[in-house]
Amino acid sequence: MNNSGMGEKATELYTDVMRGLSKEQKYLPSKYFYDEKGSDLFEQICELEEYYPTDCEVEIMKRDINEITQLIGQNVQLIELGSGSSMKTRLLLDHCSGLVMYVPVDISGAFLEEVAAGLRSEYPHLEIKPVAADYTSPFPIPESEEIKKRVIYFPGSTIGNFRKKKAQKFLNSLAKYLSPGDGLLIGIDLKKDISVLEKAYNDGKGITAAFNKNILLRLNRELGADFDTDQFRHLAFYNKQEGRIEMHLESLETQHVQVNGTKVSFEKGETIHTENSHKYTIPEFEEIAGDQFSRKQTWTDSRDYFSVHYFEKV
Ligand code: AVI
Repeated sequence: MNNSGMGEKATELYTDVMRGLSKEQKYLPSKYFYDEKGSDLFEQICELEEYYPTDCEVEIMKRDINEITQLIGQNVQLIELGSGSSMKTRLLLDHCSGLVMYVPVDISGAFLEEVAAGLRSEYPHLEIKPVAADYTSPFPIPESEEIKKRVIYFPGSTIGNFRKKKAQKFLNSLAKYLSPGDGLLIGIDLKKDISVLEKAYNDGKGITAAFNKNILLRLNRELGADFDTDQFRHLAFYNKQEGRIEMHLESLETQHVQVNGTKVSFEKGETIHTENSHKYTIPEFEEIAGDQFSRKQTWTDSRDYFSVHYFEKV
């Protein structure tokens, strides 16, 4: 395969991959984890004993759903960033009687249509208007006269996967969709005991390791690369200075790999940085949210591992 014979998507993937692999500290953008296999592995991660964020967020949403619903309010358009099939979404749709429209935004159009069809029959009173888009770039939001308020829902601490500057910029860009009094309901993973954090990303069944290595299999499949995943080791550790879990793939040998005909060399022990997962204290995240948003309420789980915040656009 050569560059000119590639489709638009593969060209973008190749450009991003080569940019990352030519840096002193090699890296791959973590968004490329989520092909079909990667999304399935991520679902499995969410079920793991060690991976506390999902359970903690569900605990909060179940326990505090009445307060959350009250803050969300009436005549509301709920816009969810990321996949909208989860238990957390259903809790909101079941309890928020003030919702008039639900807008799941996801890059996978096929997945969205499937979810939307199911939701339409379960929630016939609600308008379900999916938007197939990458929510990190501007996307269109459906309008309706019935809507008096917008609430953006961004669960799962997915914003933790953005670098701090990027997280700030992203929240600023979300503020542009909102008017004063509109809301942002967001899940944020909290700083905690390092052993708890590191266990969550080094599970006993090796699912997180498979998730991490799957990015190389994707490059083999989509770019005709020849990574031998047995020659790389999953690494996940807490970087205290940056306040984040970092995932890397460590080369076990000096080796050469080709990616679409370009040779990439690895020294033994060299790593590819594949993901950051930032952990915040509540004041740290409030600072990231900046002066566009004012924090109205925060809920945490019984162990104070995870937090859900309702911010109002000022
Ligand atoms: C999607 N995101 C919030 C997960 C996280 O915890 O940063 C992705 C993940 N990576 C390894 N395990 C889970």
